[in-house]
Amino acid sequence: MVTSVLPRVESLASSGIQSIPKEYIRPQEELTSIGNVFEEEKKEEGPQVPTIDLTEIESEDKEVRERCQQELKKAAMEWGVMHLVNHGISEELMDRVRKVGQKFFELPVEEKEKYANDQSSGNVQGYGSKLANNASGQLEWEDYFFHLIFPEDKRDLSIWPKIPSEYTEVTSEYARQLRGLASKILSALSICLGLEEGRLEKEVGGVEELLLQLKINYYPKCPQPELALGVEAHTDISALTFILHNMVPGLQLFYQGKWVTAKCVPNSIIMHIGDTIEILSNGKFKSILHRGLVNKEKVRISWAVFCEPPKDKIILKPLPETVSETEPPLFPPRTFAQHIEHKLFRKTQDNLSN
Ligand code: OGA
Ligand code: NI
Repeated sequence: MVTSVLPRVESLASSGIQSIPKEYIRPQEELTSIGNVFEEEKKEEGPQVPTIDLTEIESEDKEVRERCQQELKKAAMEWGVMHLVNHGISEELMDRVRKVGQKFFELPVEEKEKYANDQSSGNVQGYGSKLANNASGQLEWEDYFFHLIFPEDKRDLSIWPKIPSEYTEVTSEYARQLRGLASKILSALSICLGLEEGRLEKEVGGVEELLLQLKINYYPKCPQPELALGVEAHTDISALTFILHNMVPGLQLFYQGKWVTAKCVPNSIIMHIGDTIEILSNGKFKSILHRGLVNKEKVRISWAVFCEPPKDKIILKPLPETVSETEPPLFPPRTFAQHIEHKLFRKTQDNLSN
């Protein structure tokens, strides 16, 4: 087994290098689409990520409620990603989540290394950076902290950051509130598909089995941002993903053949429909391809919470209600673990043919 100690991207960035190591340079074909993210964010022309106001999502008034559900449905079908506003999670709590995560990342790298994960032994929780998974050795311009935050009985609090001391309390409260929001969204999406209100929630594991995993993405300043990506293009495998960030742009969505840069919307939470819901809905709701740009001027941090079904207990496939003679099933049945395998395999094949 070959092991090598990779420097954290943060250490590389602070070393004063003017050009980035070749492993971080994207392939030629991809470079043509990478621009300056601040310029990109300013662009007003062309399609924009929709904003969905959730104020009325549980209104007593059926008509008002249905109007809100329809907006959500449209965004989920056309984009599969949206800015949620009036989602019920307080600005204060979101600020505290950002504060504790930022404080953790402000610790010296040596301190953070005490929480290093060990991917070779299957220990994915903790502080990490991407390991090259193919011959090209392609890497991403980010470090991260990854851990399970819900349900509470499945957490391993021993690996959570101990500094700052409020980290656990704040992150736990955010997890509880996000779990509530996930339920509301899953109910509304169920209704939009003509299903019983509780159906999607049940199909992704319910209160006991749906897992919320937090990934704090830390994107250091990059001396050659036009050559690198913070996260390469992918779709999320989750059922739903909720993202907070520090108001530095970076997220791009591949919509109608073009990369669209998400604007920074104050107090919003970005929500992705992930592959799991795309499969269950037989492709009616989209899991959109997205990526993250980096920049020279500002550190970007994002807090992505992936709501995932259990790995092996559930077979994911288009629900019978979403399938008809004219709408055949677009996805063969597979467990979540098999879905992950399938994506990895496809990626390896892609790389082999490059
Ligand atoms: C992810 C992701 C985007 C971002 O972590 O899956 O797509 O804005 N992050 O950091
Ligand atoms: Ni993603």
